[in-house]
Amino acid sequence: MKTILITGAAGFIGGNLTLKLLKEKIFAKVIGLDNMNDYYDVNLKKYRLKLIEEAAENFSGSWKFYRGDLSDKNFILKIFEENRPTHVVNLAAQAGIRDSFENPDAYIQSNITGFFYVLEACKNFGVEHFIYASSSSIYGGNKKIPFSTSDRVDKPISLYAATKKSDELLAYCYSNLYKIPATGLRFFTVYGAAGRPDMAYFKFTNKLLRGEEIQIYNFGNCARDFTFIDDVIEGLCRVIDKPPKNSPPHKIYNLGRGEPVNLLDFVNILQEELIRAEVLPADYDFEAHKKFLPAQPGDVPITFADMNEFERDFDFHPTTSLREGLKKFVAWYKNFYCEKI
Ligand SMILES: NC(=O)c1ccc[n+]([C@@H]2O[C@H](COP(=O)([O-])OP(=O)(O)OC[C@H]3O[C@@H](n4cnc5c(N)ncnc54)[C@H](O)[C@@H]3O)[C@@H](O)[C@H]2O)c1
Repeated sequence: MKTILITGAAGFIGGNLTLKLLKEKIFAKVIGLDNMNDYYDVNLKKYRLKLIEEAAENFSGSWKFYRGDLSDKNFILKIFEENRPTHVVNLAAQAGIRDSFENPDAYIQSNITGFFYVLEACKNFGVEHFIYASSSSIYGGNKKIPFSTSDRVDKPISLYAATKKSDELLAYCYSNLYKIPATGLRFFTVYGAAGRPDMAYFKFTNKLLRGEEIQIYNFGNCARDFTFIDDVIEGLCRVIDKPPKNSPPHKIYNLGRGEPVNLLDFVNILQEELIRAEVLPADYDFEAHKKFLPAQPGDVPITFADMNEFERDFDFHPTTSLREGLKKFVAWYKNFYCEKI
């Protein structure tokens, strides 16, 4: 019987993956784990869990949720003992670049110690495939674009990036030593409905609605490879049942749209969609709410995924345009926050 464990199941990517797996009945049992921390509004995590519970009921899926911390070794062992997962998707992590300067301990605890305990459990219980989240941030100030997984990535410019690079090394090591089939996915600025409020598209929307200023760093001279959540979930689903066959059985892929968008263009599209959805009035003075600032520590000028390897191995390329994706985000935002007021 195929059982999948998703860590960070109440999170943005984990919640959406869990929903999709339950709807498509890909696994006989879906197990989720999350510590429900308050890095951002816990109500969003509760909302995602509610949608998951409804989906489990509607699609008669076998769903079980465990609340606890990755860095609690006994907790992880208990979940593996009780469920014997055949597949593990490790999405739980302390995310965010800026916060890693303020709260470094959380990054080491979740992304290094916690990651290690999940790997140990995979070693001790044996899994068919271990999939884990890495990040485009590990490319740091890479000058060569697009970013390829064959580029050297040993100069992280934030602790967050350093922990993600460390995860890739730990996973490679365990895959090599214990033959654990493992795939690391470097995600690129994932956005969408019920996303993360610490990310620019969500934060800017909140601030503009409150009449506050939005901070545009590096005076707008940067570009991000925005990747819509549904595309990321589709990509993840294609990876789950295709463990690497090479030796050692470890592979790393980029999973991004491969079309960076300039920050100011992104802000313009967001503005237009907020007006179109009548979240903000047509005469909103956006210019008066923009503050242009220098780059912050940890900021990189561009992220840009080379998707050739992913396309070759999984026959998939993200297709959702930034406008289409932001339109969906804004529609969700309006329904979730504005209609209740
Ligand atoms: N969203 C992006 O743009 C993006 C980009 C690159 C990489 N990633 C990575 O993808 C993964 C998922 O990101 P997300 O955007 O869904 O973030 P998220 O913060 O929404 O989800 C992570 C979830 O993990 C949980 N968690 C954190 N530490 C934990 C711990 N120690 N024990 C148990 N649960 C814990 C949190 O409560 C949260 O619900 C993360 O590993 C992140 O680093 C995300």
